[in-house]
Amino acid sequence: MPATRRQFLGLGAAAGLSLVAGCSGDGRPAAAPSSPGGPRLTAVPMRMDLAGREIPTWGYGTVPGPEIRLRAGDVLRVRLDNGLPEGTTVHWHGLAPPNGMDGVPGVTQAPVAPGAGFTYEFETPVAGSFMYHAHVGMQLDRGLYGPLVVEPRTEELAYDHEYTLMLDDWRDGLEGHADHGSSPPGGDPDPVDAVSFGGRAYPLLLVNGRPPDDPPVLRARPGDRLRLRVMNVAADTGFRFAVAGHRLTVTHTDGMPVEPVTVDALRLGMGERYDVLVEAAHPGGVWQVGVQAEGRGGWGRAVLRYTGSETSSAPAVAERPAELDGRLVTYPDLVSREPLAVPTGTPDREYDLELSGTQIGGQSHPDADPLPVVEGEWVRVTMRNTSAKWHPMHLHGHHFQVRTPSGRGPVKDTVAVPSRGGVVSFDFLAGNPGDWLFHCHNHHHMEDGMVRVVRYGPA
Ligand code: C2O
Ligand code: CU
Repeated sequence: MPATRRQFLGLGAAAGLSLVAGCSGDGRPAAAPSSPGGPRLTAVPMRMDLAGREIPTWGYGTVPGPEIRLRAGDVLRVRLDNGLPEGTTVHWHGLAPPNGMDGVPGVTQAPVAPGAGFTYEFETPVAGSFMYHAHVGMQLDRGLYGPLVVEPRTEELAYDHEYTLMLDDWRDGLEGHADHGSSPPGGDPDPVDAVSFGGRAYPLLLVNGRPPDDPPVLRARPGDRLRLRVMNVAADTGFRFAVAGHRLTVTHTDGMPVEPVTVDALRLGMGERYDVLVEAAHPGGVWQVGVQAEGRGGWGRAVLRYTGSETSSAPAVAERPAELDGRLVTYPDLVSREPLAVPTGTPDREYDLELSGTQIGGQSHPDADPLPVVEGEWVRVTMRNTSAKWHPMHLHGHHFQVRTPSGRGPVKDTVAVPSRGGVVSFDFLAGNPGDWLFHCHNHHHMEDGMVRVVRYGPA
């Protein structure tokens, strides 16, 4: 398709989105799209610029799409218009909407046909860092995603600036480029099978839609405190994340608050998010924000530039923060500040599910039995990963509490289960009737059927 300027800028403009949309550009979050009708998302074939190379993709006008920002208790009302040549839906990853608003084709709604539209509308009572993305086939592997931030009514954290960083693996428009971009020297990646991947090459890792040669810039004055909302929206890549010369105080995972814990690095499975505070305690400088693919080559970055360091040059593309090898946050480190109201005793229902190949409990979607639950139940799911791949498992429509030795594990919606014998167990309260996907957030695994449906039914 020929690139017209309108396509390049994104048809979102025509649909009423301002072009300051999203966390593109220097990574600054957009103003709240607070028009009375609510924001609009127009899914379109478009072109994007990757450090001077213009490539075709599908997106919501920009990559990432426009940031949607609400306050807890607001009604999210988003009109989706489908300018794609095939059906599409939007899923609100991490939110717990009524089932009909969950955006799963064939489960909660029919795909929105080309040329048609659909208005998603539901209340968002819970604050946090979330994402939205297409949920048809491999559409999410293109640019059909964006950040969704629900602010609390009263912000407890004190910080001077915030940035949302969406980490992605990218191959759209670059097929045939098998190189993994720049790999940093001196990396000590996990064995290659520690992270699952579908054997496809992802030549680039992007931060907010930008390749390492054209990184987003975070700005800070000496003494500032930054809040970073780090989100892994990749199809096939786990990431390790660190900021050279700075530590990260984790305050939330998957949007839900935890007791603050200070570490050097994060590891994010696909679909996971971490909020961290960073003290900009240096007098100046330009610091690498490093994003390394877990278990294979691949490198992305942003840079943190202090006021007064305008003339300093950015770190070399491949400069690797030593912090990537420092203390990594793990699930047992995370203690929920708002645990679920899980009763004591034994759960009403327990599922023990082996993750083998791309099966869950020995079955593959669509030839899989639903997992029945009854409204009001306390449900425990234990996953045992006997495969050689790492599986970040995501439950729609609910928050669950990961079981850790503290007894107050983090409340999340996506949890990575280590390969070769890894076990993760979580509890949730069945309080949101409907049919809800439970799946691996590796899109290739999902496409291969690594999906089950949690189905509410009669007692
Ligand atoms: Cu991020 Cu089924 O979703
Ligand atoms: Cu998987």
